[in-house]
Amino acid sequence: MALSWWRLELPCPPELEDSLTWKLNGLGIHRVALQHRPEAPEQRQLVAWLPAADWPAAERNQLPAALAPLAATFGLELAPLAWREQADEDWSLSWKQHWQPDPVGQRLLILPAWLELPPEHADRLVIRMDPGSAFGTGSHPTTRLCLEAIEQLQTLPGARVADLGCGSGILGIAALLQGARSVAAADTDSLAVRATRDNAAVSGFSQQLQVELGSVERLAELLDGRPADLLLCNILAPVIEALSPAFASVLAPDGLGLLSGLLVDQAPRLQAVLAEQGWRAELTAQQSQWGLMTLRRADVA
Ligand SMILES: C[S@@+](CC[C@H](N)C(=O)[O-])C[C@H]1O[C@@H](n2cnc3c(N)ncnc32)[C@H](O)[C@@H]1O
Repeated sequence: MALSWWRLELPCPPELEDSLTWKLNGLGIHRVALQHRPEAPEQRQLVAWLPAADWPAAERNQLPAALAPLAATFGLELAPLAWREQADEDWSLSWKQHWQPDPVGQRLLILPAWLELPPEHADRLVIRMDPGSAFGTGSHPTTRLCLEAIEQLQTLPGARVADLGCGSGILGIAALLQGARSVAAADTDSLAVRATRDNAAVSGFSQQLQVELGSVERLAELLDGRPADLLLCNILAPVIEALSPAFASVLAPDGLGLLSGLLVDQAPRLQAVLAEQGWRAELTAQQSQWGLMTLRRADVA
């Protein structure tokens, strides 16, 4: 019998994209997409596919209660979950239909691994991704903020890069495409580690990009006592804060950090915490309510 799928649809306010995706991942739901609508970025929709055999009604009925607290944290209420059954042969097609070539900034193009490079984007640097296995398909504002900032760096050629919370590996791969010498990456999610490895291989960067399961300590080990020139870290503000005491072990004194995953109104607190540790953090860009910060040693001009 062909396996059938439940397709879940849920309108997704931007501030819930991360937490909902992570929560679903934590519940074993990994086929999650955010419908990308460049013309109306505030009205995105989360779509997830669940094997019907694993998700009987009793299990599905528990999902709203599992997800509601995430919305409550932001004073929001989730819309009702919409379910539709889908035959096996339809789901992979429907899953893939959500991903289109996606230009970012002036020079980059995120291209689903199964698509040909469209001629109109032939002059762009192509990040080939197999979306879905880990966070970081490039559609999230925080990923885009980082990609746009990486694109503007003059100091990338030859740089050694540390990618903390690498997700799909997208940021490190973008840095390599623009001349970085090497990337050391770490993520606490084993699916992310696998996705980063796979995506690096698809782009021909298996030698230049090393990735391991773990957090900042593992990253410091990978760097072998030589902190990087550029630190990329797109994780939620409280996690960045918790990891920050170890930043000096992964970022050289004259290096630059790009931090995202923070909401703009979380910036002042994070800046204060980082200042206490001798860092100068500046909010340099934002998209909807998400911010991007640069990070430098306070005593370096
Ligand atoms: C918002 S995603 C960013 C992914 C990718 N770097 C991007 O910019 O699209 C954050 C990633 O950080 C990972 N993560 C969360 N907490 C972490 C920690 N303490 N140390 C390392 N990685 C962590 C998550 O598993 C997730 O893959």
